[in-house]
Amino acid sequence: MPIEKILITGAAGYLAQFIIDRLHTSYQLTLTDIVEPKKDYDGIPFIQADVTHASEIEAACVDQDAVVHTVALVRERHGKPNTLFADVMVKGTWNVAEACVRQGVQKLVNISSISACPPAPGVQLPYQVDKPFRFGGGDLNYALAKYLGEQIGLAYHQAHGLKVIHIRPGVIDGDGMNPGPSAPETVTEPWFVYVDPRDVAQCVARAIETEHVNYGAYNAVAGRSDSRYDWKQAKQDLGYSPEHNWDEIPVNEP
Ligand SMILES: NC(=O)c1ccc[n+]([C@@H]2O[C@H](COP(=O)([O-])OP(=O)(O)OC[C@H]3O[C@@H](n4cnc5c(N)ncnc54)[C@H](O)[C@@H]3O)[C@@H](O)[C@H]2O)c1
Repeated sequence: MPIEKILITGAAGYLAQFIIDRLHTSYQLTLTDIVEPKKDYDGIPFIQADVTHASEIEAACVDQDAVVHTVALVRERHGKPNTLFADVMVKGTWNVAEACVRQGVQKLVNISSISACPPAPGVQLPYQVDKPFRFGGGDLNYALAKYLGEQIGLAYHQAHGLKVIHIRPGVIDGDGMNPGPSAPETVTEPWFVYVDPRDVAQCVARAIETEHVNYGAYNAVAGRSDSRYDWKQAKQDLGYSPEHNWDEIPVNEP
């Protein structure tokens, strides 16, 4: 069945605006968030819902073919208790996956993060998603919640046949939290971790379009040879072709 109707969660967020811009001419979108978007999405329906409330998010999933799930604790997350991450990111993603199955949604595109599986010391770079990883102390609540969100997607794919594609963006440029890339003086290993939000949106569009991938996790980062995270698997499987690659920053080979 072709995908025609897509629900975007976290629709008031920074990344979501690029996903909405990318998808709205090709699909019938419905937007949802705990707060109303400040941006005026003329004519696109909005449903106010809290992902931690199962019945609210299930109501938003009625009659949808796919869900793009972007909700997370992103800004001002540091210092927040682990229970809040468990609620918003783990229970929230669980509620979304359960709602998809209950409402017959075909595909869940889950916005994860390169933080979901931090590369283990000594692992070959650029980091591929199936290579060894090890959690560290910094930002553990967020990293662990992202990892658990992916595991929920895997479980619902295995148990119920829900198509699930996790997109792991690098550091998203222009999000107001991060300074943007600048080349290091000394390069010892692939260092570039940034991605343009328009390229993340392109990767999401490719994940919606593909008929060949029923489950997978993909890094969505700039298409550079000094990228710390591998993006070529997304190119190979989904047709991801990053277009905003900071050509003004020299590619430094380690
Ligand atoms: N910003 C980055 O550099 C970056 C990097 C990698 C991955 N990501 C991921 O991309 C996604 C979007 O990030 P962003 O930068 O746009 O964040 P954002 O904070 O701008 O957007 C998140 C949205 O989630 C909504 N939300 C929060 N709690 C909710 C709840 N209980 N119910 C419903 N909605 C709720 C917020 O209102 C907000 O609009 C997140 O999953 C994030 O983890 C971001």
